[in-house]
Amino acid sequence: MKIGIVGLGWPGQQHVRAVEELEDAELTAVCDMDPAKRGAFEGKCAAFDDPDRMFRDSDADAVVLAIPHHLHADMTIRALEAGKHVLIEKPMARSVAECRRMIEASERTGKTLMVAHNWRYTPWCVAAKRIVESGELGAIRAVRTEWLLNFRPSFPKGSWIYNGDLAGGGAIVSLAIHNVDALRYIVGEVEEVFTKQLFTDDWSSDGAENWAMCQLRFDGGAIGHLFTGYTPFYPPDNGMLYVYGERGTMFFGPWQGETGLWIRSASRSEDPEAGYERVEIERHAPGMAGHAQTNQMRHFLDCLKNGRTPETDGREIVKTIELTEMMYESGRTGKPVNRTIAAGLESR
Ligand SMILES: NC(=O)c1ccc[n+]([C@@H]2O[C@H](COP(=O)([O-])OP(=O)(O)OC[C@H]3O[C@@H](n4cnc5c(N)ncnc54)[C@H](O)[C@@H]3O)[C@@H](O)[C@H]2O)c1
Repeated sequence: MKIGIVGLGWPGQQHVRAVEELEDAELTAVCDMDPAKRGAFEGKCAAFDDPDRMFRDSDADAVVLAIPHHLHADMTIRALEAGKHVLIEKPMARSVAECRRMIEASERTGKTLMVAHNWRYTPWCVAAKRIVESGELGAIRAVRTEWLLNFRPSFPKGSWIYNGDLAGGGAIVSLAIHNVDALRYIVGEVEEVFTKQLFTDDWSSDGAENWAMCQLRFDGGAIGHLFTGYTPFYPPDNGMLYVYGERGTMFFGPWQGETGLWIRSASRSEDPEAGYERVEIERHAPGMAGHAQTNQMRHFLDCLKNGRTPETDGREIVKTIELTEMMYESGRTGKPVNRTIAAGLESR
């Protein structure tokens, strides 16, 4: 399978590594408007400065798009219409309306559309889902997840990522989208959200929140909390997810000096004070590579070769964007938003 990659920033480089690690994939084209980034590939594969020229003139069967959010929808549609299968970086797009246009283009052209929600291809995340499904934790009652980072070393002041119109929001959509999607994947669909945001950062503008907290209520009755921010001075447990069940608690994060997936449950020890055990990830997610983007690319190629629907196709991931839209609507109105209210807003 011949692959082309547009956008050679950090995520683009992860896709390059994934292609290089898989025997049945070959990197035949790259594209970046930055001459230094595409220059590094000259002599190795075709290097373009214009994505549309790459879609038209390269021999790639499929393209990976790792470009700023305001380009996601239109560039995906143009690639699909040029006959390429597409793996688009997260977030799928800035709005449900943009996502629907992308899904329509995929279905019209018969070309595959997959979203690079790499947590779903990360061994700990797959293991966490399988443990919840196994019933070891009993009925899930609560979940808590946080993701905080300092974006400043990666994105200079004035970057598109601090502009809410271009990025589609702030920390929720640029960072915690991973957690939002993982909550749906591991725990289930969210029925209601209540969001508080702060816009206290003079690097951010046009509705890009630099802090956000959301309270959640899931279909199954569980309650949840999501906290995110992309300004400096993040805590040591900056990326974590806790799942609390009637019969046990599981968390991903640092504990006793090691980051991993940890569990204690009634089936392991009836003593509720017993210590946490490290989950044997390989037992629950066998054969997965440590590099999530390699697992993700393997799944993409498998779907293309065998005509299968990707686990993170457009129809699945538009639901993640529906949820972030609910979060933003709640932040704007200062009121809880449930799926009935959100559906009413959409049909207006
Ligand atoms: N999955 C992850 O863990 C992860 C991590 C970081 C970023 N991302 C996502 O990846 C995407 C890109 O993020 P980034 O941090 O690399 O952004 P970025 O601003 O660094 O842009 C990526 C590259 O795209 C190039 N580019 C931009 N517009 C272009 C155009 N019109 N034509 C050709 N090249 C163009 C830029 O020169 C840059 O090299 C975003 O969707 C972001 O949310 C995903």
